[in-house]
Amino acid sequence: MARHRIFASIMAADYAHLAEEVAEAAAAGVDGFHFDIMDGNFVPNITFGADLVRALRPLTDLPFDAHLMVVDADLLIPRMVEAGVNRLSIHPEAGGHLQRSLARIRELGAQPGVALNPSTPPEAVRYVLDDIDYVLMMSVNPGFSGQKFIPASLRKAADLAELIAASGRDISIMVDGSVTPEVAVELAKQGARDFVTGSPLFSHRPLAARVQQYREALA
Ligand code: DX5
Ligand code: ZN
Repeated sequence: MARHRIFASIMAADYAHLAEEVAEAAAAGVDGFHFDIMDGNFVPNITFGADLVRALRPLTDLPFDAHLMVVDADLLIPRMVEAGVNRLSIHPEAGGHLQRSLARIRELGAQPGVALNPSTPPEAVRYVLDDIDYVLMMSVNPGFSGQKFIPASLRKAADLAELIAASGRDISIMVDGSVTPEVAVELAKQGARDFVTGSPLFSHRPLAARVQQYREALA
């Protein structure tokens, strides 16, 4: 299996110094950046959109992973890919036509993912396994950084890993929501490969020392 990857969630960075935050996280050795796109409708919060992705894109060659928490994903998919995201996940709970939207992401040249709310069972991805490269498993309810990890996420990661393994496909599980180094280790034991970290990363300075803690925990 490929080594575990850590994606820094821009939502938890210092908005007044975003370029410096990206540079420090990249120098600290993160494997990519995660962008939480919220419309104030699917979730009770508003963040940023494709313009911010475009502004930060020239600062690093690391992968950009966008997580759409919006009612109308189809409206944003082309804009996000055009702005430079490499991976893009969408929520089935938002409605719309999941398979069609995932196929569109692939067609535009980005890696498609399904993002699942904590209460949504793994079964929700069964019939789109042909269409995805990863599952973004939420371990908090989407909308805010800095929440509490939902313990049932450990069992869910195991169930999701089993469903994926039975399919024989190369689909990774990425977990998003309050993933400290200690939690990452437990999730990795259940089959999670990649991790998003917002406040568990950016509230621990210097970032290099914190990334090192993730690396040591996951070694
Ligand atoms: C929450 C977002 C997360 C958030 C994670 O809706 O999807 O990506 O930034 O933040 P932490 O790691 O602080 O829970
Ligand atoms: Zn996210």
